Amino acid sequence: MTEPAKAKVDMEKLVSLCRRRGFIFPSSEIYGGLSSCWDYGPLGVELKRNIKDAWWRAVVQQRDDMVGLDSSILMHPQTWEASGHVEGFSDPLVECKGCHLRWRSDELEGDRCPECGGELTEPRLFNLMFKTFMGPVEDEAGMVYLRPETAQGMFVNFENILNTTRKRLPFGIAQIGKSFRNEVTTGNFIFRSREFEQMEIEYFVRPGADKQWFDYWVEERVNWYVSLGIKRENLKLHPHAKEELAHYARECSDVNYLFPMGWAELEGIANRGDFDLVQHAASSGKGLSYYDEEAKEHIVPYIIEPSAGVDRTFLALLCDAYDEDEAEGEKRVLLHLHPDLAPIKAAVLPLSRKEHLASFAKEIYADLRQQWMVGYDDAQSIGRRYRRQDEIGTPFCVTADFESLEDKQVTIRERDSLRQIRVPIESLKVTLAAKLGGEDLFVLPEGGKVWKE
Ligand code: GAP
Repeated sequence: MTEPAKAKVDMEKLVSLCRRRGFIFPSSEIYGGLSSCWDYGPLGVELKRNIKDAWWRAVVQQRDDMVGLDSSILMHPQTWEASGHVEGFSDPLVECKGCHLRWRSDELEGDRCPECGGELTEPRLFNLMFKTFMGPVEDEAGMVYLRPETAQGMFVNFENILNTTRKRLPFGIAQIGKSFRNEVTTGNFIFRSREFEQMEIEYFVRPGADKQWFDYWVEERVNWYVSLGIKRENLKLHPHAKEELAHYARECSDVNYLFPMGWAELEGIANRGDFDLVQHAASSGKGLSYYDEEAKEHIVPYIIEPSAGVDRTFLALLCDAYDEDEAEGEKRVLLHLHPDLAPIKAAVLPLSRKEHLASFAKEIYADLRQQWMVGYDDAQSIGRRYRRQDEIGTPFCVTADFESLEDKQVTIRERDSLRQIRVPIESLKVTLAAKLGGEDLFVLPEGGKVWKE
């Protein structure tokens, strides 16, 4: 298959759509913003929650070999000694002697400052972990880190989970949560920021079965993105060469996505071997092992870790869903978001604001809201209102017109195809549920009819 060379949408368009429609705002904007920190607005928070719910459904709810965890962001400082982060979680940093801007030396093309052409200092290692202090005294004894990954919370709870769930190998722990990295270079919107969210799995397997499970998870994770509508040709695996591997990894493959700035990592899948359990066992003095009934001995499981970013998934989904076409003679922007992910599942649109029609439509709106996030819009022409919903990815619009008051039927319009059907109000909820679940629009409920081909 020939792979696309360039993403279909540029970043400015996406940033502008996100800002304009309330998906994402710069953090503390009234104070001029805070570099590389972002706030998810009313629509963004819904999309983000839907991404996390879809991940949780796929990796926890629908599997019997996985359990969830929500560990704290602040952890015992020894955690980060044992994990190797205190010593090794650093980027090589150089500073311009002229303008004092700092750069990652491994990302620089020449040996001069890209900003002013000034001379650069020798590289020094810069640790990416944020520090803070527990309690009232700001001294070494109270110093803690904001976690740079959620993974360590799962390793240190290995024994707790084993003892409370009685899981047998292979099994996994899944966690979603905020992580913090004092990145030297941020940018590309929400792609690389200093505060971000991860969705991580630590999957414990018998040593020897690790290669098979590594391959399994690589395929499983790619399929997950595809199941949410991301085009396969916009995804590419990047297996790490030996010299690229992190200190804990035996093997690693990134799932890369074709972002507007080019191919970049969406998720990393690593075979961490027994590194983490051995390190934490040695550091804590607790024997972090598993009694293998088959071999009748204690073993230290190997760990396969699929580690995804919520924010990067958000960005990839928006890039993939973004489209421009023409509808009813007008240009439109639309997001082909999967119904499970769309922030608003349906919008109720009364054809007029006249009192009797408005109260009729509001009753429908109140009823649908019991089940889904639903919008209501009665401002401007119906065409404009359709466009507004298309632009935020609402899969269906429900329109009530004056005839609806007589025949107790409403029309349902499908975002992508622009087709419409007319259905009795009493079957509206089941019909919408079926369509949101993927049923073809023209499969009609009793009393329903095709309204627009
Ligand atoms: N526990 C392994 C781990 O954290 P990683 O490759 O450093 O591995 C995993 O991070 C994922 O977290 C990345 O693939 C990316 O999606 C997300 N991520 C990492 N750093 C990020 C940042 N600064 N901003 C946004 N997302 C980030």
